[in-house]
Amino acid sequence: MDLKKAMETLPEKGYLDIPIPKDIDLVDEINRLRKEKNVVILAHYYQVPEIQDIADYVGDSLGLAQAASKTEADIILFAGVHFMAETAKILNPSKKVLLPDLLAGCSLAESAPADKFENFKKQHPDHIVVSYVNTSAAIKALTDIVCTSSNAEKIINSIPKDKKIIFAPDKNLGAYLIKKTGRDMLLWDGTCEVHEQFSLDKILKLKEAHPEAKIIAHPESRDYILNIADYIGSTSGLLKYVQESDAKAFIVATESGILHKMAQVAPGKILIPAPPENDDNSCACTKCPYMKRNTLEKIYLALQYEMPEVQVEETLRKKALVSIERMLELS
Ligand code: 13P
Ligand code: SF4
Repeated sequence: MDLKKAMETLPEKGYLDIPIPKDIDLVDEINRLRKEKNVVILAHYYQVPEIQDIADYVGDSLGLAQAASKTEADIILFAGVHFMAETAKILNPSKKVLLPDLLAGCSLAESAPADKFENFKKQHPDHIVVSYVNTSAAIKALTDIVCTSSNAEKIINSIPKDKKIIFAPDKNLGAYLIKKTGRDMLLWDGTCEVHEQFSLDKILKLKEAHPEAKIIAHPESRDYILNIADYIGSTSGLLKYVQESDAKAFIVATESGILHKMAQVAPGKILIPAPPENDDNSCACTKCPYMKRNTLEKIYLALQYEMPEVQVEETLRKKALVSIERMLELS
């Protein structure tokens, strides 16, 4: 039987590999299932356009965590990456949280293994730990306050000046925050493989060709990219900037999925994705391979079979919840 076989291969494939009848309309079926099962579909701005277009809410990491904390749905289908769905589960232990592909991970979250981070923390017992939301539940359990790129500055500024801080796992965001807040933080050596790729040369060439364009960048980018940016912000910050700026053109240094929402909220503006150093996907843009694992087909299968589900062990969940709730209170 298809389902039994598909369940056996789920850990390896990340999703239920079951053939979908050719004649069904995926969007109609997803709409039917979401209604029948009282599902909320949350999607990150880096999802492919067709997923963003069917979502109940599209947002940045903070907005998505807030939406997850308020939902009255019975099932949360999270079109994003694992740490986002895990955060939703930590906030909603009694709800079913579905991730269309369990292998939708995050290189930044992977860059902080819990055992190594615990040792590092032990070496600096007098430090407050601030962790970016792009971490596993195990890291959140070792964290005092979680933050996202939307609220990181505010969270660092809320910590008394005499307290020492460890910031993990993104060293680019950490270095940017040191500049912005003047706090001397101890940084974990992690990075996002997508935001590390932008080519300074290619961005400068684009700027020569479009001198009127503003360069805007996500703070996970390297310092030499941030140094030439006219604006630095979270995905929602970048969107707002493009919407409100008088400029007509923008070179956008973040994952290219965001261009879909940008074009919707700022019609008529010229949006140019910042190219990576090695352009092997030929789009002259960067794509997060983890975010892009989600598809409409996998969403349909996840809703139909209510799998794969994200689970968090209860003791760990309770510990991780504390640092997430502190962030939500401060946001
Ligand atoms: P935002 O919180 O800005 O949406 O960032 C999430 C992320 O994964 C960036 O790579
Ligand atoms: Fe993680 Fe980078 Fe992908 Fe964001 S873009 S989910 S930080 S790998």
